[in-house]
Amino acid sequence: MAYKGKFITFEGIDGAGKSTQVKLLQQNLNSKGFDCIVTREPGGSTGSEKLRKILVDKNKYNWSNLSELLLFFAARKDHVEKTILPALNDGKIVICDRFTDSTRVYQSQGKQDLGELIELLQSKVIQLDPDLTFILRINSEISLQRTNSRQDGDWRVSSLSSERLMQVINGFSDLTKQFPNRCFEISTETSLEESAKKILERTMEILE
Ligand code: TMP
Repeated sequence: MAYKGKFITFEGIDGAGKSTQVKLLQQNLNSKGFDCIVTREPGGSTGSEKLRKILVDKNKYNWSNLSELLLFFAARKDHVEKTILPALNDGKIVICDRFTDSTRVYQSQGKQDLGELIELLQSKVIQLDPDLTFILRINSEISLQRTNSRQDGDWRVSSLSSERLMQVINGFSDLTKQFPNRCFEISTETSLEESAKKILERTMEILE
């Protein structure tokens, strides 16, 4: 799909520091004169924010894996149509907290048929891939410490078994092998500034 802007996504488990790094990248790019918007999934458009309430509520309904997957894609379609594509067509940089890579990791559950459906929906329905993706990596203990202290009523990784949490962490890392041209893993266990510097350097490579 041809557009003038750039589409950058951040991925990783809850508590990996995505929202902090998203904000730092926005500030750093703004100070260099780039026009960027920050958005998130599920959410980022009126329809998708309505679906977010259904999808991430702590007491969420027990959807089947397939129904949940379709809801994430319905939310994504609205977000792409209403928010992301108009901004990209205007030449803006869109920085998005989570996108289809999160569905690949959380919803495929290692099942081949769901994985195939995700790729089909991504290529035929969403038809938009990021130009650059940062996979933020943190160990499971730090993730749990950080997310347990949040009081926003959202569903969190703390509800996952430790075995499933490790699968999710490794699932995100594997994306760097599946999409080596756009996915870069950044450890956020070191200093905030150091991670932000690496993220900005890599971003400037696709902007210059
Ligand atoms: P957030 O707390 O990072 O905004 O993400 C909300 C939750 O939604 C998070 O636990 C991961 C989950 N999620 C999925 O399971 N599949 C998806 O496709 C997306 C975008 C998020």
